[in-house]
Amino acid sequence: MAFTAKDVQALRQATGAGMMDCKNALVETGGDVEKAVVLLRERGIATAAKKAGVLEAADLERVADFLKGIKPMPAVFDNHYVTRINGSNVKKGKTKRDLAEQRLAIQGFGNVGSIGALLMHETGYKIIGASDVHGGLYNEKGLDVPKLVDWVYRQRKPLPEFPDGERTTSQEILFRPCEVLVPAAVENQITSENADQIDCKILCEGANGPTTAYADSILQEKGVFVLPDILANAGGVTVSYFEWVQDRQGMFWRENEVNQRLQDVMERSFDEVVQLREAHDVTNRTAAYMLAIRRVASALRLRGIYA
Ligand SMILES: NC(=O)c1ccc[n+]([C@@H]2O[C@H](COP(=O)([O-])OP(=O)(O)OC[C@H]3O[C@@H](n4cnc5c(N)ncnc54)[C@H](O)[C@@H]3O)[C@@H](O)[C@H]2O)c1
Repeated sequence: MAFTAKDVQALRQATGAGMMDCKNALVETGGDVEKAVVLLRERGIATAAKKAGVLEAADLERVADFLKGIKPMPAVFDNHYVTRINGSNVKKGKTKRDLAEQRLAIQGFGNVGSIGALLMHETGYKIIGASDVHGGLYNEKGLDVPKLVDWVYRQRKPLPEFPDGERTTSQEILFRPCEVLVPAAVENQITSENADQIDCKILCEGANGPTTAYADSILQEKGVFVLPDILANAGGVTVSYFEWVQDRQGMFWRENEVNQRLQDVMERSFDEVVQLREAHDVTNRTAAYMLAIRRVASALRLRGIYA
């Protein structure tokens, strides 16, 4: 447990983390600076700038090629409204039959996971796997999602006991081959220990913080297109903002108007993140942070702190 002020300083420099986080990490690793670096990165405590340093630039061409083939992707939302993510480089006009070849697996079947699964199913994706805290379910031909939702939420039966699928574990569903993987349960599910088993093309983070920083760099190396939580699951909070706006105006929008405005916001943010990523050769996650910081800075400059 012995460590010196110099060790703390070295750790701070390597990770950009704060003094207390560094001290705690050193206590936990018995004063081993290298292990403490890994620990801080695992926990996502290292700053975005330092994280960017450890992440490899992704293979953009491969990702762009893949994205050309698929339709706008409905992503994640809260229990009221839909968030739709649509990349500027996603080619439109694919039929439902084309989409049915896109396999999707979801971990977590709560507000985000179950409604996400339903909307993706309605759009035409093949939902090959779902899991909750009780276990997982896999069906390579595609799960009947409306029936599964009925099973879990109306009949109140355990998800893994749904008759039409192979029973598996809550976590194992993350490792099945698919085009789109949606972790929508809890944080720290994809770590340096299991990231190499992830076999998807797009990782759409429905949950907050499902991927640790170190796992993130492994996914980049593998060429996975990561839609970071701050972008992928921001639909709910965006609609909360819309509610505030409507209350202030004393005028209320129809549901399709809410969805249309939400789609506009999400598409614009997606496009801006991808543009920043390409311009600065960073990951989607770093680009999303850059965009967020820019927006806050620009609002502060325009409005001042108290406006
Ligand atoms: N609800 C929202 O509006 C919203 C919006 C954005 C992001 N999120 C994030 O999405 C995640 C899920 O939120 P929610 O509102 O859907 O929660 P929820 O409690 O409704 O659902 C969580 C689901 O995850 C399952 N689960 C828990 N531990 C698991 C495990 N170890 N393995 C597999 N499944 C597990 C639960 O059984 C449940 O089905 C959280 O990280 C939350 O912060 C939620």
